[in-house]
Amino acid sequence: SVAPILTNLQKDCATSLPVLSHVADAMAADMRAGLAADGGSNLKMILSYVDSLPSGNEKGLFYALDLGGTNFRVLRVQLGGKEERVIATEFEQVSISQELMFGTSEQLFDFIASGLAKFAQKEGGKFHLPSGRMREIGFTFSFPVKQLSIDSGMLIKWTKGFAVSGTAGKDVVACLNEAMERLGLEMRVSALVNDTVGTLAGARYWDDDVMVAVILGTGTNACYVERNDAIPKQTGHASASGRTIVNTEWGAFSNGLPLTVYDREMDAASINPGEQIFEKTISGMYLGEIVRRVLLKMTEEGDLFGKSVPVKLSNPFILRTPDLCAMQQDSSADLQTVGSILYSVVGLESNFSARRIVVDVCDTIVKRGGRLAGAGIVGILQKMEEDSRGLIFGKRTVVAMDGGLYENYPQYRRYLQDAVTELLGTEISKNVVIEHSKDGSGIGAALLAASNSKYEHEF
Ligand code: BG6
Ligand code: GLC
Repeated sequence: SVAPILTNLQKDCATSLPVLSHVADAMAADMRAGLAADGGSNLKMILSYVDSLPSGNEKGLFYALDLGGTNFRVLRVQLGGKEERVIATEFEQVSISQELMFGTSEQLFDFIASGLAKFAQKEGGKFHLPSGRMREIGFTFSFPVKQLSIDSGMLIKWTKGFAVSGTAGKDVVACLNEAMERLGLEMRVSALVNDTVGTLAGARYWDDDVMVAVILGTGTNACYVERNDAIPKQTGHASASGRTIVNTEWGAFSNGLPLTVYDREMDAASINPGEQIFEKTISGMYLGEIVRRVLLKMTEEGDLFGKSVPVKLSNPFILRTPDLCAMQQDSSADLQTVGSILYSVVGLESNFSARRIVVDVCDTIVKRGGRLAGAGIVGILQKMEEDSRGLIFGKRTVVAMDGGLYENYPQYRRYLQDAVTELLGTEISKNVVIEHSKDGSGIGAALLAASNSKYEHEF
């Protein structure tokens, strides 16, 4: 029968307060180890070379490219300086096809460069730059990159299902430059940033209290403002501001997570087994797939949907996180939406009791994900607080958040916030503000392109 499978699942996914605080402590400890030495921990703690945050004085016309979420985006941002701030942004987006995700590096970068070229062509001379000045780009590239300078960095490995051949180990800015040359497009990358770093910069433009940025979307990651003296592995590049943004790449975290047989089997079948375990437990790309695996087991070994095992339920990734979300919003007495989603996605006829179990499974996986994400955030804040007594918990501190999972999944958001409040206590958690910073990373990248412009004078 199905009941023991559900009970075991709930037991294995339980995130009691001790489990959460262990995860937060382990996150803080892994951060320290990763700051001490490269390879010192699962967390890469990548130095972003962003050591001054937007001041609000940035001025001029800049572009941004954003690759790594569900969509590839091109943006044009006009910055108006202190008085006018962001004057206008325009953007276009397209989704990245499976072919591109499994294609060659040249194909991917040609696609990006031609998207940029088409976007720029449509301007039809509407935007003028002083003569001799190239259009400058902030490039948000949301994968682990060993940053070599503010405008160059080597791809360490792909994540989130990308398996493009020939990019790992290469400078992704050089890859883009080559593609732009092939098209005769003259533009220049002035800043290469992770999406978390773009989000932090974008949110900081409006709010000085932003210290951390988190992405919860297809994948997940976090970055934060670190003091130079807390980065033993930093040699050579010391910033004038005394601070620098560190990209944790926390998706690779794995310490003390409550995992199940479904997680282990999904990981083993993935294109990057053993990697990105935190990401595989809490982010949007994977939540639906974990639930599918549980439901499959419940049909094979229990009799969740009667005697037959529907073929479609054996298709990896057929059930997506937005489906879970839609099912969890169903407040009808007979769970009608749950029934119709099960029917349309996996071809299943269901009765009321089966539908209720499906909702319980979704809730179990989403609750674990949201609460662990909350524990991760507390881990980062805890580490910052330990190094600067009172400067984090003793005043308003903002965590800027972006990504489709956070934006669209109310239960996930609530579980995340609950975990933060439980871990910090009501008093301190009043000072920690988690704020949705929608699409901040594009504007953030444009701002960083502006502050790292190779041209001295504003125009
Ligand atoms: C966007 C950011 O808003 O959120 C991207 O601009 C980021 O840089 C993304 O990658 C996450 O998106 P998704 O599609 O994975 O939810
Ligand atoms: C993956 C990438 C990381 C990115 C995150 C969110 O974890 O490795 O660089 O920030 O997804 O998009």
